Amino acid sequence: MTGKELREKYINFFVSKEHKQISGKSLIPENDPTVLFTTAGMHPLVPYLLGEEHPAGKRVVNFQKCIRTGDIDSVGDATHLTFFEMLGNWSLGDYFKEEALSWSHEFLTSKEWLGINVDKLSVTVFEGEEETGVPPDTEAKEIWKSLGIPEDRIYMLPREDNWWGPAGETGPCGPDSEMFFDVGKEACSAACKPGCSCGKYIEIWNDVFMQYNKKKDGSYEKMSRKCVDTGMGLERTVAILTGKKSVYDTEFFIPIIKKIEQASGYSCGMDPDKDISVRIIADHVKTSVFILGDENGIKPSNVGQGYILRRILRRAIRHGRKLGITGQFLSSPASAVIEMYKDVYPQLLEKKDFVLKEIEVEEERFISTLAKGEAEFEKMVPNILKGKEKIIPGRLAFKLYDTYGFPIEITQELAAEHSLTVDREGFDEALKKHQELSKQGADKIFKGGLADSGEVTTKYHTATHLLHEALRKVLGEHVKQKGSNITAERLRFDFAHQEPMTPEEIKKVEDIVNQQIGSDHPVTMEVMTLGAAKEQGAIAFFETKYEEKVKVYVIGDFSKEVCGGPHVDRTGVIGKFKITKEQSSSAGVRRIRAEIE
Ligand code: ALA
Repeated sequence: MTGKELREKYINFFVSKEHKQISGKSLIPENDPTVLFTTAGMHPLVPYLLGEEHPAGKRVVNFQKCIRTGDIDSVGDATHLTFFEMLGNWSLGDYFKEEALSWSHEFLTSKEWLGINVDKLSVTVFEGEEETGVPPDTEAKEIWKSLGIPEDRIYMLPREDNWWGPAGETGPCGPDSEMFFDVGKEACSAACKPGCSCGKYIEIWNDVFMQYNKKKDGSYEKMSRKCVDTGMGLERTVAILTGKKSVYDTEFFIPIIKKIEQASGYSCGMDPDKDISVRIIADHVKTSVFILGDENGIKPSNVGQGYILRRILRRAIRHGRKLGITGQFLSSPASAVIEMYKDVYPQLLEKKDFVLKEIEVEEERFISTLAKGEAEFEKMVPNILKGKEKIIPGRLAFKLYDTYGFPIEITQELAAEHSLTVDREGFDEALKKHQELSKQGADKIFKGGLADSGEVTTKYHTATHLLHEALRKVLGEHVKQKGSNITAERLRFDFAHQEPMTPEEIKKVEDIVNQQIGSDHPVTMEVMTLGAAKEQGAIAFFETKYEEKVKVYVIGDFSKEVCGGPHVDRTGVIGKFKITKEQSSSAGVRRIRAEIE
């Protein structure tokens, strides 16, 4: 069974059940600020699940490209991917559990369709909960039994396993019933069952009974019209049907992995750590190609989807280093992705030049960042050599990792060249803390869009200090902050000044800020009394609000300002700064809006 065949079979099956095929949509949702990417087939259908009439009718079927960066830490195992395709069928106020489950069962087990041995299937249904008042789904359980699934392979599980949605903060959601394939591995424990992550049970399909609309205040509104939303993972189902141990052993990855092996000289199967790196690169290259080559494609940047793209590309490059690749190498696996998918997603071919060019530029940029990190490392060395212990502290190793994207192995190699070692425990501790924080950040991104993303707003904080100082340099020392407001999209800065700024002044301020960003100044912080801060010439307003001791943020030799933070470690990460508006705010106060790219 190939991907092409499975897509066709799925569509044909549901067309035979009176569904209309509809096309998949862009990976970058239009008019939906609650998520960054299309994460499921239901996403473009939200308005129709909520009651709007669909032009194709009440039964629709398609395949949809999806991105789930929330799964990034699991990439490299047998089944998780950041980019995948989802096969889905929907009832938009038409059929419900009986038909949905019967058809799922028929498609999976009938010889005419997938012909999966029914003894290998287990299913799960919702066990019910008080919070929403949703009862245990005995109806689904009875339907499964009537279809021939024995009771001991029907599991009743709680919300974390058997509730789906909403895709963003709000929207349609409900209890679901999932279908699992038992790969025949030994159970990891007596408690092993579908939903366990040991790899014995692979989830292949999910039928969601969309009965609720989650509102902004967190409440669940019962929908009068019942809908069904289903999703089958294309890659993992093909892996199962072709007897492969993982999705990386299928046609969806083999050509990409070959190119990575060629670029690195490494052959998979020799070293488990390196195998994971190869898989991560393969997954991330594919995801990057699909983001860049999307009908609404975007470039790497420091905000929104562009920021995710940048992080994914850089992670691929870092894993390339783990395989011993030091130069640019992503172009060839990226071309393989385009070649593999061009028939199903022709826009990839149309945008081929753009996709490859942007990947090349980002690679070039990041490789030079890594080179800066190496220079930084060399600067650290003399001091450490002077010390007794000859150990690179964990926090410095972490800084190299965090600011310059240095894998710990590279720091260790460099250290060894100077007869130094690295405090690995200290590094792991710092990393763990960071991951917890960024996991929280990532969770937020997927729950609430970018609105709460700490990383972007931190950049805006530092950009605001640069702007403040630049205004004082261009307009004069009378410029004083009167107000500041930052979102993930822009900064707004109010300051004391009489006249409108001229275009020349605006340009000058912009140039100064960009110069300071380009200089990649370190940003440091010191705690001191307000008096000492003022004595040192730190800008400090809103005096009455400050506690006795204050934090002073120093940006290179450019700016010194009392502030609660947080700020970026170096100005270089901020990106390009642009003033988008300058206007009056109130008498004697001007207002600037600015963005970073
Ligand atoms: N929307 C459901 C899922 O993604 C089908 O699992």
